[in-house]
Amino acid sequence: MEMSPQSILFETVPSILHEWGCARRLGQVMAAWTERRNVLIVTDAGLHKSGVLEPAKASLAAAGFRVAVFDEVVADPPESVVSRCVEFARGADVDVVVGLGGGSSMDIAKLAAVLIGSQQALSEMYGIGNVQGRRLPLVQIPTTAGTGSEVTNISIVSVNETNKMGVVAPQLYADRVLLDAELTVGLPRSHTAATGIDAMVHAIEAYTSKHKKNAISDALAREALRLLASNLIPACENGQDRRAREAMLLGATLAGQAFANAPVAAVHALAYPLGGHFHIPHGLSNALMLAPVLRFNAEAAGSQYSELADVVGAGGKGNVAEGAAAFIRFMDDLMDRSGAPRRLRDVDVPHSSLPALAADAMKQQRLLLNNPVVVTESDALRLYEQAY
Ligand SMILES: NC(=O)c1ccc[n+]([C@@H]2O[C@H](COP(=O)([O-])OP(=O)(O)OC[C@H]3O[C@@H](n4cnc5c(N)ncnc54)[C@H](O)[C@@H]3O)[C@@H](O)[C@H]2O)c1
Ligand SMILES: [Fe+2]
Repeated sequence: MEMSPQSILFETVPSILHEWGCARRLGQVMAAWTERRNVLIVTDAGLHKSGVLEPAKASLAAAGFRVAVFDEVVADPPESVVSRCVEFARGADVDVVVGLGGGSSMDIAKLAAVLIGSQQALSEMYGIGNVQGRRLPLVQIPTTAGTGSEVTNISIVSVNETNKMGVVAPQLYADRVLLDAELTVGLPRSHTAATGIDAMVHAIEAYTSKHKKNAISDALAREALRLLASNLIPACENGQDRRAREAMLLGATLAGQAFANAPVAAVHALAYPLGGHFHIPHGLSNALMLAPVLRFNAEAAGSQYSELADVVGAGGKGNVAEGAAAFIRFMDDLMDRSGAPRRLRDVDVPHSSLPALAADAMKQQRLLLNNPVVVTESDALRLYEQAY
């Protein structure tokens, strides 16, 4: 047991601008910050075609930037997307990188910024602290209120058909983050729900993180959860609700700052194999595994869950166990109301795949060791059964 007062090392990005419509003046913001003028925008084709990026691109052009757009990012991006992006960027002679999209685009932007001027192979970067050298200047602009990737030092890459690996390194923290909730207005309801629940899971798992839980992450996680819990349903029901969209985006970023320093645990460890095997989106995978893992952790994390019940306004006057149960009921009810699919069977996961999922979840030891309760392979199988 840790008896001594815990020392805290908290790291995050140096600058966050949270302002409705700020992507419309991206050129002005960037010109005030850097002398560089050859921008790479990293995004996905759907967003590029939708026109969501156009005001930002126009503003860059008006401010004298040359803009090259790499739009080949896909969900759960494989290594080949990273190498194509780097090749494209070198060909276009870019000197500053902007990630503009969901977590997938921002994760690729981070790796591209590192790799464009580097000799190091991506395969040598997996794990914690293995990136060498500096990167190009990096700006991140999220279009989902979910992953928090804009403020984390993590990139997740699919290394083969079924497995994802993470690069975790201080170079992956961006220089500048722009939070423009106007960009999220067109996010469809199903994505709003799934990415919003992903952000809530970040806050919950940071708050119960076993080894690195700390007072700064706790404060961020609590405020994140407060914002996300009260705005998820309004944002789902009316995508145009400006206050709800702003609160969701800020909440997702605060949760990202929390879990970059107090890492996520079993919900994510069990979610990743669902993405790997069945291409279930990251947020939805987390939503599907959340309730079983909350129940599994309820005793060990009871006092924290009961504190979170107070944060979301679900706490009563009861004891810790009742508070924890109230929190779990609150999350269950919220997920029901969000309209997200609730069971693995609803998203066509074959029952026969559960043992393989459980075996793959065991590979996520980087995450599992943060869980308040040890998760064995048979526990994992039981949790998938409960989620089925
Ligand atoms: N780096 C981190 O800290 C971190 C944390 C969690 C997850 N991740 C990774 O992030 C990825 C998931 O990111 P995500 O959930 O943001 O989804 P995503 O980036 O994969 O995008 C999903 C879909 O949403 C669409 N979309 C995005 N913004 C939109 C908008 N404003 N309007 C309409 N459509 C929009 C995209 O075009 C895409 O089709 C996964 O690869 C996951 O592993 C990274
Ligand atoms: Fe996540």
